[in-house]
Amino acid sequence: MSDHILVAIAWPYANSFIHVGNITGSHLPGDILARYHRLAGNRVAMVSGSDAHGTPVTVRADAEKTTPVEVYKKFHASFLELFQKLGISYDLFTSTHTENHFKVSQDMFLALHKNGFLYADRQQQWFSTAQGRFLPDRYVEGTCYICGYPNARGDQCDGCGSLLDATQIINPRSKIDGSSPELRETEHFYLDLGQLEPAIVEFLRQRESYWRPNVLRQSLGQILADGLHGRAITRDLDWGIPVPVEGWEGKCLYVWFEAVIGYLSATIEWSRLSGQPDAWREWWNDPDARSFYVIGKDNIPFHAVIWPGQLIGAGEWFGELFENRTATRLTLPYDVPANEFMNLEGKKISGSRNWAVWGLDFLTRYDPDPLRYYLTVNMPESKDTDWDWDGFVRRNNDELVATWGNLANRVLSFAYRHWEGIVPEPGELRPADQEILAVVEAGFAAAGEHLGAARLRSALLEAMRLAGEVNKYLDKAAPWFEIKSDKAAAAKTIFTALKAIDSLKVLFSPFLPFTCEQLHSYFGYQEPLFGQQYVQTVQDKLGEHTALRYDPTPASGHWVPSQLQAGQELRQPAPLFRKLDEKVASEERSKLGNS
Ligand code: MF3
Ligand code: ZN
Repeated sequence: MSDHILVAIAWPYANSFIHVGNITGSHLPGDILARYHRLAGNRVAMVSGSDAHGTPVTVRADAEKTTPVEVYKKFHASFLELFQKLGISYDLFTSTHTENHFKVSQDMFLALHKNGFLYADRQQQWFSTAQGRFLPDRYVEGTCYICGYPNARGDQCDGCGSLLDATQIINPRSKIDGSSPELRETEHFYLDLGQLEPAIVEFLRQRESYWRPNVLRQSLGQILADGLHGRAITRDLDWGIPVPVEGWEGKCLYVWFEAVIGYLSATIEWSRLSGQPDAWREWWNDPDARSFYVIGKDNIPFHAVIWPGQLIGAGEWFGELFENRTATRLTLPYDVPANEFMNLEGKKISGSRNWAVWGLDFLTRYDPDPLRYYLTVNMPESKDTDWDWDGFVRRNNDELVATWGNLANRVLSFAYRHWEGIVPEPGELRPADQEILAVVEAGFAAAGEHLGAARLRSALLEAMRLAGEVNKYLDKAAPWFEIKSDKAAAAKTIFTALKAIDSLKVLFSPFLPFTCEQLHSYFGYQEPLFGQQYVQTVQDKLGEHTALRYDPTPASGHWVPSQLQAGQELRQPAPLFRKLDEKVASEERSKLGNS
C-alpha cells in the first residue's frame, strides 16, 4: 500500500541568500524525508516556494533602490540554482507571486469570511503625511519605550530584544525619509482565533503523543497558558495579495497569512503542471494523507497553531469556492518536526554581518554530499548545534572518506581488477558472510523506522554504524590475502561485501544522493537511483515565473536490501569523496565576518 506524504517546507523569504542554517533547518531535512518516502514506494509531494511579499522584500528593495519584483526574482533565481546543485528535490518549488497562489489565498480568505471566522476592527497606525500612506511597523524607528534604545524598530527593539507595540514608540521617524509620522486610525480584518481555539486544541491533543517537545511547548503549552486572541491578517501595503473585498483597495493580505497557504496552492499548481489537475486532493482531502511541515523553531506558532486554524476555519467552504466542488475538509498537519538553530563557530549566524556559510559559495569549493552529511549529523533536531570548520573537515575525512568511501572504493576496485569487472560467483556463503548480510539487512527496518518518524540523524548514524561493521567483516576476512591462496574464498568475501555495499548505498542515498547515484552506476545498473530536477517557466496573468520540478522516473532503487547477482557487469570505479587538507578550516574561519 502506498501512502500519500506531503513534505511541506518553510518558504524562504526572497530577500537574501540561503545559508547553512536555513539548509539544515528545513530544505535538507525535507529532501531527505521526501527521498526516503519515494524509495519506500510512497507517493510524495514535496513543495515550497519563495516567500515574495511583505516588508522583508520591500525593505530590501528600498535599501537597494530597486523594486520588490526585482528583489524577489533575483533571490528566487539563486534558490533554484542552489537547490539543483544541492539536490533538494522539490516536486515543485514555486513562488507566492503567482496567479494561482493569489487565487487560492483569496479563496481561503473568502471561505474564512463566509464561515464567520473573520471580523473587521480598527486600530491606530503610523501614517506618513509626507508620503500619504500608512507605514508598516518595520518602517518606523524611534526610541524604545522599554529600554530607551534610540534606534528601535517599530516591531522589535535590538537594544533589549523586546517585541514592541509600534504605536507606543517614542519620537517615531519614518525609515524612508526620516519625517515624523502621525497616528491615524486604520481598519483591518482579524482571524478570530478565539473562536477557533477549541478545535485547535483538539487538533493538538490528538498529536500530543508524538510531536517534538519544543513544538508542543510553543503550541499547546502557549494556548493553555495564554489562550488565543484575534490576529490582524491584512496590512496597509501595496506589495502583496489584494484583500478581495470591495472597499478594501490598497490593502493586502498579511504575508504570513498567505505564505502558509502556499503549501496548498503549490500542491494545486504542481497537480496542474503535471496534467492531473485534481491530484492535489489526494494529499489535501484525505485525512489519512500525512503532511510533514519541516521548519525552523521561529516558525512554530504559524504552522502548529494559526495554519491549522486557517484550515479548520476554511475547510468546509473552501472546496465549494474552489471550482465549484462540494464542500470538503482540508487535511491538517500530521507532524511539524521543527528544528532548533544551527550556530556558526559558537556564534549566532548573521547574514548582515556575514557570519554565515552561504550555500552557493560553499559549493564553489566543496561537493554537495559532504555538506549534506555534515549538516545531517549536526542537524539541530532537539537542541541548537554548531557548525565548526574543524568538525566539517574531520567528519569528511574520518567518516565519509575513511569509513564509507574507502570501503566502497576498495571493494569495487578489487572486484573490478581481479574478476574482470564482473560480480564473482560465490558458491555457498559461509556463516560469517550470511551474518554480515543479515546485520545490514536489519538496517532497513531500523533506519526506515527513524526516517518514518523524521529522526534523520539517527537514521544516518545507523547507516554509518553498519558501514563500520562491514569494514570489520572485511578486515577480518582479508580478501587481499585470501586471493593469494584461495581465490574461491576471496570470491565469497568480495561477493558478500559488494552486496552489503549495494545495500548500504540505498540506506545512505536519501542523505548522499550524488555519490550514491555514482556508486549505483559503478555497480552496473542501467536505471538511475533517482529522478531528474529541471526548471520550468510558467506563464500567467502576473507575468512569468520559474519553478523547480522533479521528474521521479524511473525509480529502480527501492528501500529493500540488495538483489545483486553474480555475473553482473561492474563499471570502472573511482573514489566517491575527497580528503580535505586540515588547513581548510583555518582558511575558512578567517573569511567569516568580512564582507
Ligand atoms: N518566510 C518565512 C521565514 O523565512 C517562512 C514562511 S513559512 C510559510 O521565516 F509557510 F509561511 F511560508
Ligand atoms: Zn528596548
